[in-house]
Amino acid sequence: MDELLPNLSKKAKQPLYIQLYNYIKKEILAGRIKSKEKLPSKRKLSQHLGISLNTVQAAYDQLCAEGFIERKPRQGLFVTLMEEDLSPYQMNEPKMEVIKVHEQTTIDFNSGKVDTAHFPFTLWRQLTVQSLYREQGNLFYNGDPQGEPYLRQEIAKYLFASRGVICSPDQIVIGAGTQLLIGLLCLIIGRNFTFAIENPGFHRIRTVLQDQGVNTAFIPLDYNGIDVHLLSNTDAHVAYVTPSHQFPYGMVMPISRRIELLKWAEERDAYIVEDDYDGEYRYKGKPIPSLQGLDAREHVIYLGSFSKSLIPSLRISYMVLPPALLNKYQERFMIYKQTVSRLHQDTLFQFMKEGHWERHLNRMRTLYRKKHHVLLLSINKYMKSHVKIIGEHAGLHIVLEVNNRMSEKELIESAIYVGVKIYPLSIYYTDVEKELLPKVILGFGGLSESEIEKGIQLIAEAWNIL
Ligand SMILES: Cc1ncc(COP(=O)(O)O)c(C=O)c1O
Repeated sequence: MDELLPNLSKKAKQPLYIQLYNYIKKEILAGRIKSKEKLPSKRKLSQHLGISLNTVQAAYDQLCAEGFIERKPRQGLFVTLMEEDLSPYQMNEPKMEVIKVHEQTTIDFNSGKVDTAHFPFTLWRQLTVQSLYREQGNLFYNGDPQGEPYLRQEIAKYLFASRGVICSPDQIVIGAGTQLLIGLLCLIIGRNFTFAIENPGFHRIRTVLQDQGVNTAFIPLDYNGIDVHLLSNTDAHVAYVTPSHQFPYGMVMPISRRIELLKWAEERDAYIVEDDYDGEYRYKGKPIPSLQGLDAREHVIYLGSFSKSLIPSLRISYMVLPPALLNKYQERFMIYKQTVSRLHQDTLFQFMKEGHWERHLNRMRTLYRKKHHVLLLSINKYMKSHVKIIGEHAGLHIVLEVNNRMSEKELIESAIYVGVKIYPLSIYYTDVEKELLPKVILGFGGLSESEIEKGIQLIAEAWNIL
């Protein structure tokens, strides 16, 4: 290929590796770097551009993680995209940037828990009091059914800068939790359509859909996430997916699969529900931009939540509706009142506006990265070759496949016996898991580093694999 000529600036706000990553990505999406083309080696490019090997490595790693390029052993790095797939999407670049618990259970690897020890309680209390004073009695009345406009504005700004979501505040509907929003979405889209969901997938969504009386199709996963070929064989009109960090398996959907999925939606005139529940946390490279930002045809409904990034009890989640659905919502469903307290919304608004949110996220990223590191180190140290770690690149949980002849139930019960709570993967399947080896989920967000190491050591003893 011709040499890469990015205009890199050390004075720019963005680090060099992000500038380089953005440049190569843009060239691929624009078709100027062709599908299957070989990229210059790290050494060659670092010499050519006068930047460090680490900078090139970081940019290449991120492109690999997102599936734009792939490493072929002893051959080098190659572009993975098929040229003809790109045209409809290349215009849309972001403009800126269970089981009975033993009474002595002490270490709980619950994937829904977050690090509350580092939640800024004092600041939150101050902001809450300020909201009450400033707004006087105003906050005691019902607010906008879509959520407070100024909070939606902050969310839109954050989504654009951090998750590549392109939307106006008008498109955002705030609600008390993802399940509630999915219920509302069923009404907006229409309950006579088939909704496809990942299998294994988020059981709480499955329950809502079934309780809503919606016809559901369960689509198996492959290495890259939902199997679009199998999805095409159903009559689904909506597909619920977790592309940033598949729940529960943890794979990150590569760009090729994202485009396949968008094509499916376009050809079928269908909707994709992108649940980006923990997209903020990624331990290799920077967070993967959203599917919504890649969608030029308004087929994606983006779902976000403050449950993992702040605290779950706040119950502040939101969805970003494409214009056609927004019209339907505004015509027919504004009769439903806002479900999140105005006081919490106002407090969150102040928290975001004054820059605390960004600082909190950065702090939590560092903290979770350390916990994640300790978890992987401890597993390697205590569990040796009896386990396989799955989905470890992002989020606040991993999946552990265990090969010690115990069943999933035995693994969980023996852990409870030593005071550690872990969770089954099988509940996320709609049918009996066909794979042979049992798997459990370990969430680490709510545990300290020492609890994580101790917990893993105790489990290894209980499983007889130390
Ligand atoms: C897959 C998935 N989606 C969404 C959420 C967030 O749900 P909510 O916004 O209702 O807290 C979670 C849990 O935190 C989850 O695991």
